[in-house]
This record gives sequence, structure tokens and C-alpha cells, in this order.
Amino acid sequence: MDAMLNIAVRAARQAGRIAVRSYERGVDLRVNEKGRNDYVSEVDRACEAAIINELRGKFPNHAILAEESGSSKGRDGGDEFQWIIDPLDGTTNYLHGFPQWSISIGLRYRGLMDQAVVYDPLREELFTASRGSGAMLNDRRIRVSDRRGLTGALIGTGIPFRDQSHLTTYLSMMAAMIRDTAGIRRPGSAALDFAYVAAGRLDGFWELGLSPWDFAAGALLVAEAGGTVTDLAGGDRFFETCNLVAGGLKVHQAMIERLKPFRSAELAA
Ligand code: IPD
Ligand code: CA
Ligand code: CA
Ligand code: CA
Repeated sequence: MDAMLNIAVRAARQAGRIAVRSYERGVDLRVNEKGRNDYVSEVDRACEAAIINELRGKFPNHAILAEESGSSKGRDGGDEFQWIIDPLDGTTNYLHGFPQWSISIGLRYRGLMDQAVVYDPLREELFTASRGSGAMLNDRRIRVSDRRGLTGALIGTGIPFRDQSHLTTYLSMMAAMIRDTAGIRRPGSAALDFAYVAAGRLDGFWELGLSPWDFAAGALLVAEAGGTVTDLAGGDRFFETCNLVAGGLKVHQAMIERLKPFRSAELAA
């Protein structure tokens, strides 16, 4: 395994232990509301600190972009390598005792995703990928599903619950998307949603208004599992638009087709 991936896995496991400990004890956590329906708990912060501590110790010159503490350059001012961290993806689920949340750590090198870890400590499922080497779930290779279109497909999504400015557009998208499928799921951890696409558990996934830490690692997992990840227009500008569509080739194509009528300048592709 790549040495950098190894360290990222170690960091994710440490954060996983911290998160599981409080989750199983059901302790009352200190929680702040950053914005409408946007919570951060002491566990999010403790996980992030543990991850950053591990990565900074090993790679002092790497830049970091982390959900709760923002972005910082490496000690030498460099940002060729950038770690993109979501210390707890699915905080709403976590706080409700709904067992679908994860830890996501990705490494970007010169603008391209290079390493990915998405870890579900409750199920002991570790999803990893290194650019050019495929994607793994624990010690087995994973691949996206080979479904040929939306008929019978299980599609994941995220329903807007904070900024609802695009809610009406989103609901129309959902109505268009659900036709012929086996159904739509809204599990609540975008990083795991991508990991499930990579493992073929979901045939496709789309969500609007994500943040880089929600999808950085997940996007590489899907690509390395043989899938396609794009913005709404089918292009590669998803780090700019933060609206993403992912799936196996045929399902992805069909999803882009269904989403076509809803593209607008406002959604920036
Ligand atoms: C959220 C989850 C959720 C997605 C939201 C994200 P957080 O991340 O990934 O599935 O719908 O857009 O913000 O805040 O729990 O890390
Ligand atoms: Ca959050
Ligand atoms: Ca997140
Ligand atoms: Ca988070």
C-alpha cells in the first residue's frame, strides 16, 4: 500500500475510535449550530484534531483543507500536496444515533486526486483508493455496478436540508430521476454514498451543493472502481460547481440525460 495512504488510514482509524466511543456511550455532546441545520459537535472537532495531528506530524510541508478548521499551507508554504478532510461526514445522523456516518480523507496532488480513504467504523468498512491502482473495500477489490441504464437501478442522493434555495429544482430532478429505477435512497453521508457507488451497492448518485471534503476521497474511489464522476453537465468542473453525478458509465450517462432540463447558469452546470 502507498505510504501516504497508510498514514491516512491510520489517521482515519484514530478518528473512528474517538467517534465510536462517544456514539456507543450515548453521551450528551456539546453541539454548536454553524448555520441553519448545520451542526458541529465536540466529536467532529476531536476527530479533526486527531487526523490533522497525524498528518502534520508525517507531512509538515503538505497543505490541509479541513471542514472545521479551514485551510492552511504546509510549513514551507507549499500546497502541491493538499489533504482534504471531513472528520465526521453525516453529523446529523451521528447526533441522532442513526448508524450511517463516516470519516473521509483525500489527498490531492497538483490538482488531481491521488489517495482516498472513507471509513465506516461501525461496520468496520474501510474504502481506499490510490490513483491508478483501483479501489478496495478492506482487503478486496471493488468495482462499480455494470447496470446498463436506470431501469432497476438503485440511486443515492442528498436532499437539500440547509440552504434550500434550489429545493424546488431539486425536487423536480428527483421526480424525473425516479422513473424506471428500483428507488432512491438518501442515506446521509455523501462520502459513504460515493463509496457505495464504488462498491456497486448503489448504481448511481447525485447531489447539489456539496463541499470538497464531502466528495474529494469519494470521487477518487468511484473513478478507481471504474466509474464516472462529473458535474451536472457531464464535465470535470465538479470541484468548482460542487454539484456531482457519479455512477457506472451507462447509469451515469442516463442520469446526465435526465438532469439535462434542470441545468442552469445558477447551478453552474
Ligand atoms: C453532510 C453529509 C450529507 C450531505 C450534506 C453534507 P456533514 O456532511 O455528507 O449527506 O447531504 O450536504 O454537508 O456536514 O455531516 O459532514
Ligand atoms: Ca458538517
Ligand atoms: Ca460532510
Ligand atoms: Ca463533517
